[in-house]
Amino acid sequence: MRGNLLSDYSATGVACANIAFIKYWGNRDPLLRIPSNGSISMNLQGLTTQTQVSFSPELPADQLSLNGKSAAGAALQRVSKFLEHVRQLSGMQWVAQVESENNFPTGAGIASSASAFAALSLAASRAAGLDLSEAQLSRLARRGSGSACRSVPGGFVEWQAGESDQDSYAYSIAPASHWNLADCVAIVSQEHKETGSFHGHALADTSPLQPARLADAEQRLAQCRQAILQRDFGSLAQLIELDSNLMHAVMITQTPPLLYWQPATVEVMHAVQSWRKQGLAAAYTIDAGPNVHIICPAEESAKVKQNLLQIPGVQKVLRAEVGGPAYLIR
Ligand code: DP6
Repeated sequence: MRGNLLSDYSATGVACANIAFIKYWGNRDPLLRIPSNGSISMNLQGLTTQTQVSFSPELPADQLSLNGKSAAGAALQRVSKFLEHVRQLSGMQWVAQVESENNFPTGAGIASSASAFAALSLAASRAAGLDLSEAQLSRLARRGSGSACRSVPGGFVEWQAGESDQDSYAYSIAPASHWNLADCVAIVSQEHKETGSFHGHALADTSPLQPARLADAEQRLAQCRQAILQRDFGSLAQLIELDSNLMHAVMITQTPPLLYWQPATVEVMHAVQSWRKQGLAAAYTIDAGPNVHIICPAEESAKVKQNLLQIPGVQKVLRAEVGGPAYLIR
């Protein structure tokens, strides 16, 4: 039996950001976030969101604080809508206070919605009295942000697209210890992006290239799974660059078009390809922004970082190895 102490209705979750090797772009069902294709990512160790959720009968409405600042508007609405879903699942009637902190800088080219909604799913479900399985948590996180479902399990993670709320969730295909890779994030701009992923996804189908990208997605997913399981960096490198280029080809040809690349983005892309020709194991992948993620074996990351910092447009480089699953803290 639960007591009536406020702390009984409070929980704190932590989750890593992730970087996709095979990208999620476009939804079959935008409300439920059933994606147009499956995706595969790697969790980013040490780049985390920590979120505390406290349900209380004494609050007038849901409240959100982000990195110590009280948030209103669209951010609060998105969290409140998500909490409404948790209330429906759990029978919890109270509103909640949500305090969320990222340990990585905002605008640093790391999508915070993935780690944020993964941490929120864990904290909110537990605070509301639910004890969900990993798949259930991943499905719940997906409702807040698609890529968040991949930050619930650990290591190398696949989100099976599925066809309904029931079968669209992510699971680990290999633990973090399986392959010591690193992501060196080359920051070329810290400006806030004008069009976020949510609006971008909704326009993916306006690109004449989206059907071609989707037609081969299953094949790329199978190749990526295999490259990870066999620790085949050469195959992974070609595949992640191809998949990132395919997604950006769709973005650039949407109506209205989304061109996230800056001149320094393209400079880094060229540099990475020439380093690889010279024998350095490294490959680029880019999300919905201008910053470039360079994936490499962890032992090469010092060299990759050093090389990146010599490119004039690169302001700084963040580095992360493979991260584990989302977890609760006391
Ligand atoms: C380009 O998960 O941020 O990073 O579901 O609307 O929150 P919402 O979108 P989001 O989209 C991520 C898009 C991407 C590719 C990826 O991470 O797979």
